[in-house]
Amino acid sequence: MTPETCSMHFRPARNWMNDPNGLIRHDDRYHLFYQYNPHGPTHGYLSWGHASSVDLVSWTEHPVAIEYTPTDEIFSGSAVLDAQNTSGLGVAGAAPLVAVYTLAARTGERQTQGIASSTDGGHTWAPYPGNPVLDRGSAHFRDPKVFRYQGADDAYWVMVAVEAVERRVVLYRSDDLITWDYLSDYGPRGATEGVWECPDLFPLAVDGDPDDVRWVLLISINPGGIAGGSGTQYVIGHFDGVRFVPDDAPPRRPAGAVATRAELAELDWLDHGRDCYAGVTFSGLPDDERTLIAWMSNWEYAGGLAVDDEAPRRGAMTLARRLSLVRRQGRVLVRQQPVAPATDPGSALSDTSLTSDAPLQTELPARCRVEVLAELPPDGHLRLDLGGSALVEVDAAAGELRLDRRPRAGAMPDGFASVESVGITTTGIVRLEIWLDHDSAEIFADDGTRVITDLLAERGRTLVVSARGDEVLIRRLSVDAVRVDDTRYTAWHDAGVASMRGA
Ligand code: FRU
Repeated sequence: MTPETCSMHFRPARNWMNDPNGLIRHDDRYHLFYQYNPHGPTHGYLSWGHASSVDLVSWTEHPVAIEYTPTDEIFSGSAVLDAQNTSGLGVAGAAPLVAVYTLAARTGERQTQGIASSTDGGHTWAPYPGNPVLDRGSAHFRDPKVFRYQGADDAYWVMVAVEAVERRVVLYRSDDLITWDYLSDYGPRGATEGVWECPDLFPLAVDGDPDDVRWVLLISINPGGIAGGSGTQYVIGHFDGVRFVPDDAPPRRPAGAVATRAELAELDWLDHGRDCYAGVTFSGLPDDERTLIAWMSNWEYAGGLAVDDEAPRRGAMTLARRLSLVRRQGRVLVRQQPVAPATDPGSALSDTSLTSDAPLQTELPARCRVEVLAELPPDGHLRLDLGGSALVEVDAAAGELRLDRRPRAGAMPDGFASVESVGITTTGIVRLEIWLDHDSAEIFADDGTRVITDLLAERGRTLVVSARGDEVLIRRLSVDAVRVDDTRYTAWHDAGVASMRGA
């Protein structure tokens, strides 16, 4: 196999991809499995595709890891290292990796959980002959995330999954990953308009304090997310090995209840953009390196995005993001810090005042990091035009960050034209860190506690920074190109046939 890389945002060379699955760090590599259609760029024949990386930035695509069967598709799930061979699926001397996933009957009648094991570091997988290992008789029971829980007396496996239509997270425990016993459930609470999917549950220390550990429950919801369509809410609380108890319980709401924007804004959201869904975290990392990857799309239009005839594909992942918990104005919030791709220093300026009649212009590479530190007067207004495809605005009077991607939405699928917004602190120095790929923006504000991720239409190569109203002081503005080399990117199935770019 030739060396194959894909930098910054993972996307398979061909075909359809949605949720990240089975994220695990093992033997010094990060493995990313994902919902994948081996036959084309549409959602179907769901299998687990596979890629791996040593740095979470540059990815190598591998052959399909777990394939659909004549009766079932392989829906989302997770993977763990069964270090003590509790499952008995290891071979002499080698502890198995165990993948836990949803067997989704092609008839649509049943969703059950199955497992598969790998003793070659995640490259080949043997489905367990006794599958399924967990069947509730439900057609909407899916997306198991499994982790090892260390209780006061003993350690065991915990599974968080969803009863998607009931908007409930269900928890199970097991000693061997094969026999599962019911523990408890959570919901419906908070945002319940759309189905609940892809839960995750993990501990994090507040401000790094080992004596103040909270548990974060991630729940993806589709539709009814804060920005419209797919979105991910989070709840902070405690987990005692049986039950998750929220610190500030979101209101009970029946399944399907449509909440107002104000009601949704009361909840905590992982991302306030439209294209960050089904995000889950890696197993195999220490708690203080908790790392998430999400699917950078939205079910509202994912299937309508244009494909390149040469290499038809749809779907990309977000940048990997390190998660932590921080206390801000008495509230505990999830903070996200992108795992930064290497950059080459580009244009930079400092201490420049920006007036409404004198915008700044600079080159905007296809892939880059834009950092802006600005001081705004109380009614100040800062605007960054991202090559004509989107406007990023900080509105001090409204205390808001907005991303408006309507300017070039005409050529995009229905539902794509949108303006995202989130409340941020606009007093003092406002810092935005923006990672741009040729077709996306990930904006980290308020020290990573407010994030907007959006796909973008094709854009030009000029960044225009302007102010409206009173003068805005730009303390620093830098645009650094991401160092990438995917001219060599051919995936395993295309090796020697066609390369993605350049060839
Ligand atoms: C979330 C999801 C999961 C399911 C998978 C199917 O995007 O709907 O609930 O397991 O995608 O591809």
